[in-house]
Amino acid sequence: MQALNPELIEQIEEYIQELYTPADPVLIANLADAAAAGLPAIQVSANQGRLIYLLAKIARARRVLEIGTLAGYSTTWLARALPPDGMLITLEGDARHAEVARRNLDRAGLPVRVEIRVGRAAGLLRELIRARTDAFDLIFIDADKASYAEYLDCSIELSHSGTLILADNVIRHGAVLEDRPADANDRGAKAYNEVIARHPRLESLVVPIIRDRIDGMAISMVR
Ligand code: SAH
Ligand code: DHB
Ligand code: MG
Repeated sequence: MQALNPELIEQIEEYIQELYTPADPVLIANLADAAAAGLPAIQVSANQGRLIYLLAKIARARRVLEIGTLAGYSTTWLARALPPDGMLITLEGDARHAEVARRNLDRAGLPVRVEIRVGRAAGLLRELIRARTDAFDLIFIDADKASYAEYLDCSIELSHSGTLILADNVIRHGAVLEDRPADANDRGAKAYNEVIARHPRLESLVVPIIRDRIDGMAISMVR
């Protein structure tokens, strides 16, 4: 047995990626365009993209809500998991990010319609609730971490029994292990983990995710 070391962890991540997430021209173009437009490369990893895609399929999701679009990389993975009568709404606060995402999604050849709504996520979520939008089957939370608890409350209001609620970046390279992290995003992620652990409407777990450093994704199912 080899001891854990950063090189070995990275090799294992690449081994999994080579087997299950082979290079794909649409996703390569998505990342290239995001980089060319100067967007930060903070999208989910390829393997995590594959994970949310599989979770959407396992949940037989038809209606998906994403909070935090960036250039539409995770959006592409999620949309590919949907049947032709499915739909996806994704919320983005930065108009420039939304513009890059629109271009990327339009040429991705996706099986479903993707609607990008531009604005602060909390306000857009309240609008969806007020409009009595049909419940979503899967909700992926991935915008500002300080607001995660608020996004969770709104997500539960937009869910039905069995809805999957996923949240990215909840381990923050271990920052959530601190009693009171200095950074507001780290505190938001830590608070989220504690809320979903004891929430009466949820069954939850956090799975570690290897990116440039170790992060994690929360998986919750609404009772
Ligand atoms: N889900 C994407 C990554 C999203 S990065 C992927 O994996 O491919 C986080 C995004 O959330 C950024 O584009 C940022 O502009 C957006 N964001 C941050 N705070 C926000 C807010 N309050 N309302 C809406 N979007 C926000
Ligand atoms: C970062 C990563 C993310 O996946 C995200 O949604 C926001 C920020 C980061 O690494 O800073
Ligand atoms: Mg993220």
